[in-house]
Amino acid sequence: MMYISNTYKRFPIKIQRAKGIWIYDTNNNKYLDTFSGIGVLSFGHSDEIIKNAIKEKINRYTHISNFFLDEDALYIAKRLVNETGKDGNVFFANSGTEANETALKAIKKLKKGIIVSFTSNFHGRTIGSLSITGFEHLRKNFEPLLNDVVFLPFNDIQAFKNFVEKNGEKISAVFLECVHGSGGLDTVSSEFIDVINKFKYVYDYIVVADEVQAGLGRTGKFYSYKHFNLDPDIITVAKSLGGGLPLSATIFTGKYKDVFMPGDHGSTFAPNPVALAAGRTVIERLTEDFLKEISEKSIYFKNRLAEIQKNLSINYKIKGLGLMIGVEIYSQKINQIIEIAISEKLLLNVVKNNTVRFLPPLNITKTEIDEIIFRFEKVIKKLI
Ligand SMILES: Cc1ncc(COP(=O)(O)O)c(C=O)c1O
Repeated sequence: MMYISNTYKRFPIKIQRAKGIWIYDTNNNKYLDTFSGIGVLSFGHSDEIIKNAIKEKINRYTHISNFFLDEDALYIAKRLVNETGKDGNVFFANSGTEANETALKAIKKLKKGIIVSFTSNFHGRTIGSLSITGFEHLRKNFEPLLNDVVFLPFNDIQAFKNFVEKNGEKISAVFLECVHGSGGLDTVSSEFIDVINKFKYVYDYIVVADEVQAGLGRTGKFYSYKHFNLDPDIITVAKSLGGGLPLSATIFTGKYKDVFMPGDHGSTFAPNPVALAAGRTVIERLTEDFLKEISEKSIYFKNRLAEIQKNLSINYKIKGLGLMIGVEIYSQKINQIIEIAISEKLLLNVVKNNTVRFLPPLNITKTEIDEIIFRFEKVIKKLI
């Protein structure tokens, strides 16, 4: 394609408009979107509450700079901190990678040493976040990156123990993505978390939970680490935080909450007031009851995927947590799945290990899940 940087393989669809789980092209064809702008649209496309909040804010102002405080920033920050159960402070940015850069910058200030990350962790594309991303093929063209980053195998208790027993004093931080988003939807094991916790009490390294994709209700809890016994010091969120507009946050808790002083870090744009207004309506709707419904819908979705597997004897593995669901497919024709799905008017996203990643809106209905399943089954039939 001319003029546009060749960084993404695009769907051959010219979008006219989008509503809920549906995307309409310029010929009025209707496509079922199963990944919500890569996990950004927790309430689907063109959500009325978000649109109204955006309009209301735009009528007042669109940008005020960080020399003024926006009330919506305070509202969102308070909730992000309160959900940790600790004291804390929030630094807002625009994207997931910036949120992780902010965490890295804080770590550099707090403690010199080795940063531990894990294979298949994805933290972003800017130099710092890329340096701690556990995908060798994404890093290799850009090396040398940050020094002193060590990648250990995800969920490998023995490898972690061996490394920490030798190098514990030198470790400054450990980055964890409890449910791998781009990495194939594998979930951290409770035993692995126990070991991370155990050594944290000995060596006092900083634990960072990257909740950019799995946070904010996506897995049925406000933060995905709450499914496990993890006690992170720093948490990063983005994706749905701005209700479809760019907004991310780094939450510093406990003894690290005052890490930054004036001059340490900043942003001209973030937090954008319009994104804050949209994001506030997202946060407000993440109630206990709503989160519970996400877990129920997850069970329903996974059961329906298991039915397809049984009916068609397809060799696949269902993974993930909440409405962050992966189907790792073992088929010779897997590289055709996106095209086949488009022919069924179904938009699929495939991540590492040939895993189809479903990130539907959190307010998806069972009828809409049935519609995904109906089309996905037809796609699978064409794959086998
Ligand atoms: C877990 C995780 N961290 C960080 C990022 C980077 O976010 P962004 O693309 O907004 O920079 C992503 C993006 O997919 C992600 O899934």
